Amino acid sequence: MAAEKTFYLETFGCQMNVVDSERIVDSLKQIGYRQVSLVEDAGLILLNTCSVRDKAERKVYGHLGSFKPLKADNPALIIGVGGCVAQQEGERLLEKLPFLDLVFGTHNVHKLPEMVQAVEKNRVRCLETDFLDRETRLALFPRRTEGDMVSRFVTVMQGCDNFCSYCVVPHVRGREISRPSAEILAEIEELSAGGVREVTLIGQNVNSYGARIEGELSFAALLAAVQAIDGIERIRFTTSHPRDLSGELIAAFATLDKLCLHIHLPVQCGSDRVLKLMNRGYTRAGYLDRVRRLKEVAPEIRLTSDIIVGFPGETEEDFAATLDLVAEVRYADVFTFLYSPRPGTAAAELSDDLPAAVRQERFDRLLALQESIGRQVWAADVGAVLPVLVEGESRQGEGQIFGRTTWNRIVNFPGSPELIGRTVPVRILRSNKNTQLGEIVI
Ligand code: SAH
Ligand code: SF4
Ligand code: F3S
Repeated sequence: MAAEKTFYLETFGCQMNVVDSERIVDSLKQIGYRQVSLVEDAGLILLNTCSVRDKAERKVYGHLGSFKPLKADNPALIIGVGGCVAQQEGERLLEKLPFLDLVFGTHNVHKLPEMVQAVEKNRVRCLETDFLDRETRLALFPRRTEGDMVSRFVTVMQGCDNFCSYCVVPHVRGREISRPSAEILAEIEELSAGGVREVTLIGQNVNSYGARIEGELSFAALLAAVQAIDGIERIRFTTSHPRDLSGELIAAFATLDKLCLHIHLPVQCGSDRVLKLMNRGYTRAGYLDRVRRLKEVAPEIRLTSDIIVGFPGETEEDFAATLDLVAEVRYADVFTFLYSPRPGTAAAELSDDLPAAVRQERFDRLLALQESIGRQVWAADVGAVLPVLVEGESRQGEGQIFGRTTWNRIVNFPGSPELIGRTVPVRILRSNKNTQLGEIVI
């Protein structure tokens, strides 16, 4: 009897990789593999990687190194790397790591089963990192129709054409393409029929959805069409580029009752001088004006953001402008990143003499400010009764379930798994750093 085939998969990075990993799981199952949760139990080990910062990339090399002894014990073991580090490093990965068997880029996820089978049969080393043309990419768009979860990501676009000066994404994901709205809506209808209640439309810059296709829906019109699908109760989207946040999309927060009252609107920095160097295409005043309009049409809306600290040449004055903006917007959450130079990006060419200690000190100050604002924002929920869409059993223990409020915060509370997929009123009892505790109100 042939030995059972097993694989272990670990995913890093953003929602795009999460969706690609779902496809990896499906396609490997189709060639007879079973997923395992321990590396030691696997005959095939895969990492789906992120290269947005140097730290993320170094982690991949570290991780792969730790698999080397496993391969020494079991020469039949297959080890592969996909995602953005694979795309960026390509052949270099195979050269640096002799025990690595296969490398597949961001446009080549569909090739994985074929590659695995080639390694199984002939013990060849495989590399696929070619970018594909538009037509082929459209035909291969990730698509899932099983409604086996309450909440699902739906990819509406891929790639990015913005070339923010610090960012590797356009280099590793390729040009931006939007998927036809008819396909997106058909997928969501199927998901809904299968029990999905919440969809998050994803892309690197969903606000420019459809912009370059004659006759295609605008992103706001796409949201309105999703709103009309029976069974879908909640709509989210990510990520928004502030430059492309249209008046029509802002208005959608008032007119579409299924649209959750949360927007991730990364500002990156509060200084006009740095925003320009970052090639972001908006000013501080333009950003704040959009925030003001969002709060005007939807006073309850909560914003989250990404901020990069220590962009090359950032002065104390630039940084003070960021702190000031954070205090003005009062974000519910901010993901703060230390600037990391990425190969091939425009910012990597800028002279950069900011001492690491200064960067770190600014990072800590921003974190402290945001922590205090975030604490106040979330503390305000205590005592309120909020609708929570139940997503599953909680990791908190037996008898606990979890779901999210409209603001995308996880709430853990006692309840029966039978409530999964239903929206229930929950009184918030406590706000912790990243989650809340509550009780169902009957
Ligand atoms: N498309 C999304 C973000 C993708 S990357 C958007 O535009 O919002 C996620 C976040 O990583 C970015 O928002 C940015 O804050 C951060 N990031 C990207 N490149 C970086 C770099 N070189 N150094 C530090 N942070 C970076
Ligand atoms: Fe990167 Fe800018 Fe594109 Fe976001 S919009 S993925 S930050 S280039
Ligand atoms: Fe990382 Fe690639 Fe996403 S670089 S953030 S996994 S597009």
